[in-house]
Amino acid sequence: MTGGLFITVEGIDGAGKSTHIESLRGWFAQRGHAVLVTREPGGTELAEALRELVLHRPMDALTEALLVFAARRDHLVQRIEPALAAGTVVIGDRFTDATFAYQGGGRGFSLEVLATLEGWVQQGRQPQLTLWFDLPADEAARRRAAVRAPDRFESQDVAFFERVIAGYAARCAAMPERFERIDARAEPASVWRQVQAVIERRFGAAWG
Ligand code: TYD
Repeated sequence: MTGGLFITVEGIDGAGKSTHIESLRGWFAQRGHAVLVTREPGGTELAEALRELVLHRPMDALTEALLVFAARRDHLVQRIEPALAAGTVVIGDRFTDATFAYQGGGRGFSLEVLATLEGWVQQGRQPQLTLWFDLPADEAARRRAAVRAPDRFESQDVAFFERVIAGYAARCAAMPERFERIDARAEPASVWRQVQAVIERRFGAAWG
């Protein structure tokens, strides 16, 4: 075991991860901990270059899966593992559950192949906690339409996002000890109270 803490934040586009990631950073920083907030695909120069391709170029599902895992491998080796070894709290804006949800659920790509890639790339590394911001697909679409132009994933229809949600639900059911489902339909202050309660229950003793 390393000394750090690896927390990931997941959910469909528009579920409201970003706001709460900043609050999470604050919770740990205020208590004197070094915090690294990072995102996937991305987090290193190479992985950010791969992100641009994945988000904007047409490609088949296997190519997409290989690129997100290639980005993840670089990110793990260059940034996440060294930070955890140094005792840092690493907060990941998406990680492998997004691959199972988007490429597996959304695109219908083989979960067996994804599990093989996960094993190769992560060598057993998993987050200690994954916060899944669960929001119905139609509500997330309404929120997205209000704020930004869509990328390759965000332009998908509601049925795609319903499959992504099912993908997250399956991962959550398979690894219940790691997952916490957050009801993201509520107003931001109430969503944050749910997140804070989870963090205090799980890490209050050791990190509070
Ligand atoms: P996102 O993290 O939502 O960033 P932003 O808020 O800047 O749009 O966007 C990343 C997109 O990439 C999102 O639509 C999900 C997708 N994605 C995958 O399809 N597979 C993956 O493994 C990851 C990490 C992300």
